[in-house]
Amino acid sequence: MTLTSDAALRREMVETCRQMNATGLNQGTSGNLSLRCDDGILITPTSLAYERMQPEDLVVLNPDGTSNGSRRPSSEWRFHRDILAARPDVSVVLHCHSIHATALATQMRPIPAFHYMVAVAGGPTVRCARYATFGTQELSEAALEALEDRTACLLGHHGLIALGSSFAAALARAVEIETLAHMYLAALTLGEPPVLPDDEIERVRQKMAALSYAAAD
Ligand code: 13P
Repeated sequence: MTLTSDAALRREMVETCRQMNATGLNQGTSGNLSLRCDDGILITPTSLAYERMQPEDLVVLNPDGTSNGSRRPSSEWRFHRDILAARPDVSVVLHCHSIHATALATQMRPIPAFHYMVAVAGGPTVRCARYATFGTQELSEAALEALEDRTACLLGHHGLIALGSSFAAALARAVEIETLAHMYLAALTLGEPPVLPDDEIERVRQKMAALSYAAAD
């Protein structure tokens, strides 16, 4: 799907950012969001709270990292650019520091198949990418590795990335991964929970695809 960075898309992007706050995924100016569009990549500006963000604050990013407009792109533009370039199956990249997913990421713990909904990330684990400083090419490379054959990953000592074919799909997936992280932390209080076999997660993944599950687009 090819999209243009027109006014309606800009409004939808700002609305999705506000939903990141409303759903508890985001706090302060952490997090960022991007969309593949005709002009390049439409991305949130750096260090601007979503309550204050207006459609004209969004930045059109060129593949070489340059941009037009009055605001600077998110400091994480490298991983947004690289993921959108490497993954023709996705149009939207969402990043946040949601509490429970980030709590696991601070321990470098992937989310295993303790619950069947782990399949919304495309496989039997939500991997955790190795740590690298925010905004660096090293972080982009770590994220791309953790996202191989997946549509979400944790970022070590940092947060979460969720991908989607639309704003709604990426948001639904991020909410689901955060919920799974919360459940996993609760389950861990009784010890490491048993995991479902890989073939069961594959069965669930195919069933979700057939039913067009929002978080498993
Ligand atoms: P930006 O405000 O530059 O998008 O950075 C926020 C963030 O979450 C960095 O990882």
